[in-house]
Amino acid sequence: MSYETILVETRGAVTLITLNRPQALNALNSKVLAELIDAFAAYEADHTQLCAVLTGSGEKAFAAGADIKEMADKPAVDFYLEDHFSGWQSDLVKRTRKPWIAAVNGFALGGGCELAMMADFIIAADSAKFGQPEIKLGVAPGMGGSQRLTRAVGKAKAMEMCLTGRMMDAGEAERSSLVARVVPLADLLEDALKTAETIASMPPMAAIANKEMVNAAYETTLEQGLLFERRLFQVLAASEDKAEGMKAFVEKRPGVWKGR
Ligand code: CAA
Repeated sequence: MSYETILVETRGAVTLITLNRPQALNALNSKVLAELIDAFAAYEADHTQLCAVLTGSGEKAFAAGADIKEMADKPAVDFYLEDHFSGWQSDLVKRTRKPWIAAVNGFALGGGCELAMMADFIIAADSAKFGQPEIKLGVAPGMGGSQRLTRAVGKAKAMEMCLTGRMMDAGEAERSSLVARVVPLADLLEDALKTAETIASMPPMAAIANKEMVNAAYETTLEQGLLFERRLFQVLAASEDKAEGMKAFVEKRPGVWKGR
């Protein structure tokens, strides 16, 4: 399928999705949301694809937020009646069980920061800047910023960023555990794709289970999380890939995965 606002290509077992509205700093309008939902659903359904990378086109922005021009004249009741922004969580995050990485190449502001935080982890360029500046527009985060940013960096920094709208640079984002790693901008895409290839080379069912376990740490108590982890470990222990992985280790050869 061809899209207007994003680019999608496959490189081996890795799907690369690029936000492609550089003239608007890749601002996230409803068309982008619809196309991303479609592209992520296609990634999820394609058994040859085992990891995805999401990045922004141009060197300036990953995404500078939800599209302010689209929201400016929208009647308030429509935000409520459409449950505006719900699709990001219900259709994109929840339905994507396979791993994906955000490669943040510049501004990740408002909805852009929130979209990056929906990824399983972020690799940032040294030029990246993160922020939740919605307060300056008379609003607040609407795609998860107040919740995911607080869980990632803690209350003090999240509160300061939401209340002042100040941006966090890549170094501070790494020190604050918002991002997994910072790399030079010129190396960002190659690094993210290589990391995705590493993930894609793992047993696919184990990748999904590892993702579910780590995400469970955000949703539940320690006791329930530990039980969830043990049960998933036990499910994996019954998989053909577990038998193959342990046999391959003993035989000193790479495993050949079936994904089940
Ligand atoms: N929505 C729509 N268009 C945007 C945009 C956005 N979020 N961000 C940038 N653009 C557009 C600009 O309007 C401009 O278009 P024109 O050339 O047609 O005027 C183009 O992108 C380039 O932007 P600037 O000229 O502003 O570039 P700059 O280098 O001077 O500034 C910036 C860069 C600091 C990122 C600035 O563009 C900016 O502050 N953008 C808005 C950031 C923001 O407030 N984001 C939050 C949006 S609300 C939200 O996301 C709600 C939510 O939680 C879901």
